[in-house]
Amino acid sequence: MVLLAIESSCDESSAAVLIDGKLRSNVVATQLVHQQYGGVVPELASRAHQQHIVPVVEEALNRAKVTKKDLNVVAFTRGPGLLGSLLVGTSFAKSLALGLDIPLVDVHHMQAHVLAHFLEDPHPSFPFLCLTVSGGHTQIVLVRDYLDMEVIGETQDDAVGEAFDKTAKLLQLPYPGGPLIDKYAQEGNPDRFPLPAVDTPGLTYSFSGIKTAILYFLRDQTAKDPDFIQKNLADICASVQGTLVKILLTKLKRAARETGIRDIAIAGGVSANSGLRAELLRTGEKLGWNVFIPKFEYCTDNAAMIAAAGYYKALKGDFCPQTVSPLPRMEW
Ligand code: KG4
Ligand code: ZN
Repeated sequence: MVLLAIESSCDESSAAVLIDGKLRSNVVATQLVHQQYGGVVPELASRAHQQHIVPVVEEALNRAKVTKKDLNVVAFTRGPGLLGSLLVGTSFAKSLALGLDIPLVDVHHMQAHVLAHFLEDPHPSFPFLCLTVSGGHTQIVLVRDYLDMEVIGETQDDAVGEAFDKTAKLLQLPYPGGPLIDKYAQEGNPDRFPLPAVDTPGLTYSFSGIKTAILYFLRDQTAKDPDFIQKNLADICASVQGTLVKILLTKLKRAARETGIRDIAIAGGVSANSGLRAELLRTGEKLGWNVFIPKFEYCTDNAAMIAAAGYYKALKGDFCPQTVSPLPRMEW
């Protein structure tokens, strides 16, 4: 099976080629245009996808040493994501499949983040738990099989990636701020500024309280000293990151206890966070978990993970019709 996968759900245009389940190429074009606006501007994102999609697909085919005529499946991200962005990838995938007369597979972006774990060995065994953390999602997923997943816990308000990015904005760091908070946190003291990590029963996350606490904390401190942020940037970042990671792990530990599952994975953009990775390894060692952490290139959005998900669907013959349209709020 020579499969081409396309990802265009947010601000990364990406294409990958998977041959008989083995990844041959994964090309990602990150859109830099959003940096000056402090967040993704949907209209600019879809225009940038239109510019990037053809060169990105051509590069992915070249690196895999195949041509369009060798392809026999096209997979694409159907949702969730930004409608305009999803439309570009969906329309491109549909046209290509129609032109080549080959089947089309629609992929759920968050399921693909989970299935990125199967691009390389070692991978988790079923059933496992996957904490999927990105700019739009914070979920604990019970994964029974490649395509049998259940969200057993999620956020009732903001995603943790949003909490990282919004804090970064308050600290006047450019978008996307998550990686920068991570960078500065590495030189800071996480215990310097205690922030509330209130635990609630169950597996439902909430990040709106901590976000407001950070806002008020910075407002009060800069009223006393206008240079407070510059003087304490590393310690602020370390304290915020430490608190967000603590919130993430408290619920994950509860989910592991309740389900009795010990294969624990993380996925999504925030799984690139060094504090989360280190704390997960420490917790796993203490509790006897088998911990699975994706390679950095498979954490943030990429088409390799769409290829992995598309592959398992194609093996089952789970194709979609040419009438398919994107679903910005696609259900699991
Ligand atoms: O999965 P992703 O690339 O896109 C979505 O599907 O949302 O995740 C992007 C999110 C952003 O919020 C970004 O700030 C965050 O992942 N992120 C990080 C790190 N790298 C990316 N957050 C914290 N630390 C990082 N190292
Ligand atoms: Zn994502």
